[in-house]
Amino acid sequence: MSQIDFVVNPGGSLTGEFRVPGDKSISHRSIMFGSLADGVTHVSGFLQGEDSLNTLRAFRAMGVDIDGPTDDGKVTINGMGIRGLKEPEQALDLGNSGTSMRLMAGLLSGQAFDLELSGDRSLSKRPMKRVTEPLALMGARVETAAGGKPPLKIKGGQPLKGIHYDMPVASAQVKSCLLLAGMYAEGTTCVTEPAPTRDHTERMLTAFGYPVSRTGSTMCIEGGGQLTACDIDVPADISSAAFFMVGASIARNSDITLLHVGINPTRTGVIDILKLMGANIELLNQREVGGEPVADIRIRSAQLKGIQVPEKLVPLAIDEFPVLFVAAACAEGKTVVTGARELRVKESDRIQVMADGLQILGVDAQPTEDGMVINGGEIQGGKVHSRDDHRIAMAFTMAALRAAGPICIEDCENVNTSFPDFVGLARRAGINISSQQV
Ligand code: S3P
Repeated sequence: MSQIDFVVNPGGSLTGEFRVPGDKSISHRSIMFGSLADGVTHVSGFLQGEDSLNTLRAFRAMGVDIDGPTDDGKVTINGMGIRGLKEPEQALDLGNSGTSMRLMAGLLSGQAFDLELSGDRSLSKRPMKRVTEPLALMGARVETAAGGKPPLKIKGGQPLKGIHYDMPVASAQVKSCLLLAGMYAEGTTCVTEPAPTRDHTERMLTAFGYPVSRTGSTMCIEGGGQLTACDIDVPADISSAAFFMVGASIARNSDITLLHVGINPTRTGVIDILKLMGANIELLNQREVGGEPVADIRIRSAQLKGIQVPEKLVPLAIDEFPVLFVAAACAEGKTVVTGARELRVKESDRIQVMADGLQILGVDAQPTEDGMVINGGEIQGGKVHSRDDHRIAMAFTMAALRAAGPICIEDCENVNTSFPDFVGLARRAGINISSQQV
């Protein structure tokens, strides 16, 4: 594959109204649950990024008849029923997508056939014991490569039983994996989370007629149920909107409105953190679409100030820290992030990679074991590396809005995993960015 670098010239203002692509978490789940449902599921606003397309291809490889996505993001899934998946002919390649691998590890542990889940260079380094260990307690047989890394080899035909699992990390992927395995288990499967994490699995299963109960921080599901097809309207992804929220906050004379953004309260940490930093953000036209709250979000330039980020907001903004570190670099004073160790096991080690890049750009950014300390100040131009991580590439694009010289970001192919046409939208919004094949 040829390498793509972004070159972003300094300065600019962001203006206009835009809709960023569909929510990645909701897009994955729409394919998974639509495939297992009885009947035909219609999805609109589907994210046509590589990650959710990998989930779609994997379910097609298991015999599901899926039409689309059309150019405008419509997908039609002819559900096979909860026991209808077929053995794929080869290993399912999930590319860069940790969500696909962890959720499918649970869902596929309860099938009658054996199969293998593999991924790209980045996914192959990510920890899978966090799902394989509790799945083993349920009776599943899932083998990993050395050190608990992918590929995963799942042995089919294992009788599963419900467990009560206290999650050691706040992870929606682990919670979802176990709830999905729980649909195939005898009895009740319960998961207790140490802090609230995104609840799209619980909401969407309920929309498909498969109830998930919640008592405090414990979610439970009964085995042996069924899903009934329904229509899913995927809102714009707040994690993609976050780049432009920060961009419009830090760039001078900016005023943008991001349309139809999902504002599920388990995802809005980025808005709360930016507001604590002094951002000018308004939620307009709030409504509910298919069980998920949605709003248009208006953001205007503001002088941000450094803060101590409250730890309880960390899991609610876990994917937004790369760009929040850029916001901190542009803020007046010191920003301290703690309790964010999970950032080290995302698509890259997001603490180290962001600290390295910010330091290259002359920012006083000190990585800590579980976060970062950043003293806001001037940002210089320079060459930084995305380390194959889509969100790192997009975060440094925003840094250029306040930089003294051009920023070159190496290896940006992976932006396509979550944000197709990021460069086009960024240009239309007012960022002087070009994408160069090297
Ligand atoms: C996701 C959960 C989060 C998030 C990821 C998507 C999901 O991961 O970082 O991008 O769709 O469930 P963790 O649950 O591991 O924190």
